[in-house]
Amino acid sequence: MNRFRTLSGVDLRGKRVLVRADLNVPVEDGQVTDATRIDRFAAGMRPLLEQGARIVILTHFGRPKANVLDPAFSVDKLRPALAKALDRPVAFSDVCIGASAEALAERMKDGQVLLCENLRYHAGEMANDPQFVRDLARLGDIYVNDAFSCAHRAHASTTGLAHVLPSFAGPLLQEELSALSAALDAPSRPSVAIVGGAKVSTKIAVLKNLVTRLDHVIIGGGMANTFLFADGAVMGLSLHEAGEVDTVREIRAQAAASGCTIHLPSDAVIATEFSASAEARVVAPNACPANAMILDAGPASVAAFAAVLEECRTILWNGPLGAFELAPFAAATRGLAQVAARLTQTGQTVSVAGGGDTVAALNAARVTDQFTYVSTAGGAFLEWLEGKTLPGIAALQSAAHAA
Ligand code: 3PG
Ligand code: MG
Repeated sequence: MNRFRTLSGVDLRGKRVLVRADLNVPVEDGQVTDATRIDRFAAGMRPLLEQGARIVILTHFGRPKANVLDPAFSVDKLRPALAKALDRPVAFSDVCIGASAEALAERMKDGQVLLCENLRYHAGEMANDPQFVRDLARLGDIYVNDAFSCAHRAHASTTGLAHVLPSFAGPLLQEELSALSAALDAPSRPSVAIVGGAKVSTKIAVLKNLVTRLDHVIIGGGMANTFLFADGAVMGLSLHEAGEVDTVREIRAQAAASGCTIHLPSDAVIATEFSASAEARVVAPNACPANAMILDAGPASVAAFAAVLEECRTILWNGPLGAFELAPFAAATRGLAQVAARLTQTGQTVSVAGGGDTVAALNAARVTDQFTYVSTAGGAFLEWLEGKTLPGIAALQSAAHAA
């Protein structure tokens, strides 16, 4: 299946291990506000450091303009959180290529860590420029890709390096791939996907792939409105995409042909304004008044969705069911998340979730640690749900094949 090389059995003592991490974490006022990615990455690196690896870390942070050294995008501010998670000091190179970075990497001792400045300060990173790849390669003896959440990018550090150094999949990347493939490639059945979020148009490929692979797909959020609209429901001010009615028909036809049942909300929470102080009311899904909007699925929907989950052995989750960031519209997401968490804890189901909003919603429902696996990936998780080949993974596979 995953035909790439891993680090198991590789003697790392004295080696400069050039690791692509994804330390692109939320930061406010110079402080890391959610260290999940750093912590999960560090957990995989600690045993390698104990073996004597010299770890040189490459990462991007945000989307700076290339060749403009805007300090807002410096990765130096990530050092305290990284040092804490690795439980050792982290040295810093204020540039990720060139003589000074090479000298720092050359002087490292076993078990030491060097963090290099933002890759995206250089145009060569996103362009996967061969010279930039060669410059990066001078920092390491081997290359490890541990950035599953960047595997959808074909950049110098995510694909180019795999072809110029002996390349290996890192521990977090491996963990992500095996958890995700267990849920989609060979799920215990029956299997269900919960797909929420605002727009059908951003998840057409996701829905088309999921309906061919799973037994049930539960649709929530603004996307569900478009499905209801296609069935003739009145939408009032609700978010929906009138132009995607044909897409909805195609998805339904594919589901029918594949034996997948699509489940839509059977009631809706509505309000006349999108605000935390809005007065919320429950109505039938086809009864939204002209001056109101659907902002969450209602209690009958949650009960019906929960009954589907109760029958399933695999749950895959991407996207909230309502406007969970506002308290009056968080109940459906929270309620169903609690059901998924309970079924996971009793051992009945495997539950895998991913995507930025999804993780925020599960955190708000305080169930993240009760899921089987919560991915650190956003965009990469979505592309993986689409069934796409991720360039970062493909590069590791073709490098292993060529070796
Ligand atoms: C992410 O946060 O999704 C990854 O770090 C990738 O970032 P990008 O979307 O800027 O490539
Ligand atoms: Mg992204």
